[in-house]
Amino acid sequence: MLSYQHQYHAGNSADVHKHLLLWLVLDALLSRPKPFVVLDLYAGSGEYPLTTGAAARSGEWRAGIGRLWDLTGGPAPLQAFLAALRGLQPRPGELTRYPGSPQIARLRLRAQDRLIACELHPAAHAALRAGLRVDRRCHVHRRDAREAARALFPPEPRRGMALLDPAYERPAEYTEVPQLTAEIRRRWNTGILLVWYPVLEDGRHPRLREALRAGHAGERIVFSELRLTDPPRGPGLQGSGIAVIGAPWQLDLQARQVLFPAWRRLDPEGRGGLFQALALENSRGRPHLVRVQNPDPPDPEDVKDYD
Ligand SMILES: C[S@@+](CC[C@H](N)C(=O)[O-])C[C@H]1O[C@@H](n2cnc3c(N)ncnc32)[C@H](O)[C@@H]1O
Repeated sequence: MLSYQHQYHAGNSADVHKHLLLWLVLDALLSRPKPFVVLDLYAGSGEYPLTTGAAARSGEWRAGIGRLWDLTGGPAPLQAFLAALRGLQPRPGELTRYPGSPQIARLRLRAQDRLIACELHPAAHAALRAGLRVDRRCHVHRRDAREAARALFPPEPRRGMALLDPAYERPAEYTEVPQLTAEIRRRWNTGILLVWYPVLEDGRHPRLREALRAGHAGERIVFSELRLTDPPRGPGLQGSGIAVIGAPWQLDLQARQVLFPAWRRLDPEGRGGLFQALALENSRGRPHLVRVQNPDPPDPEDVKDYD
């Protein structure tokens, strides 16, 4: 079943949340001259028009990147992300296009880095291939991510990250995703794994979060949840979650700095919240999911559990 079409959702708050964390992980990889690889296993078509077609009809982006893109000031990575986005617009000052994860990664590759992108949907794959064909650092596969997890790991170079961003249109994906990350980890013990998951009223996300934590016990994992209602209430997507497994040092602190001002724009009435948890190499038990109250480093005394 491949009925999911990302063009309806491109640039929504969940996309922005994911892409800001992707940006921060890329910053970490770019901090050293050694080459890296990005494996984008559910890549989508790479670029989306916002003011025509599906995105114009859904209008989701207006409550997402539409609320953020004119922000001035703020932390340097957020400014850099928005400057890159503005640079992609055909007409300066007018937001009409939004890049998908493979195009965001491509923007940041150096000569020595590589992108491998997998997409199964024929139309999305064709669009992705057309968009990346000109760039010899980029390789596009029409491949099932589950098969890619066996065939493409460990990659060369060994340094890098994989993005797992499935549509969760099949209930089985909630159990397949932790199996996939575990499979990848068995083959690639050095990579950073960035996993997206939906936050819905049905409450499946805490179980997924726990399965990821249990499958990667002893690893450094940053969980970030940007919720538009809290507790999640109502039909459809109520927020988005990201797990960064094998997270770079201090990603949790950088994520707070960048995501807190972004969340305030994305949720102007404060009906939801930004939540974060850090599972550390040496910690036991469940990591605490804590509401982020400000962009500053957290006070260790101020730990309260949420689900
Ligand atoms: C949420 S979208 C990806 C969005 C993209 N990562 C971004 O941030 O711009 C999920 C994509 O995965 C594709 N897909 C679904 N099942 C897949 C599978 N088993 N293997 C590879 N791609 C798949 C869908 O066609 C869809 O384009």
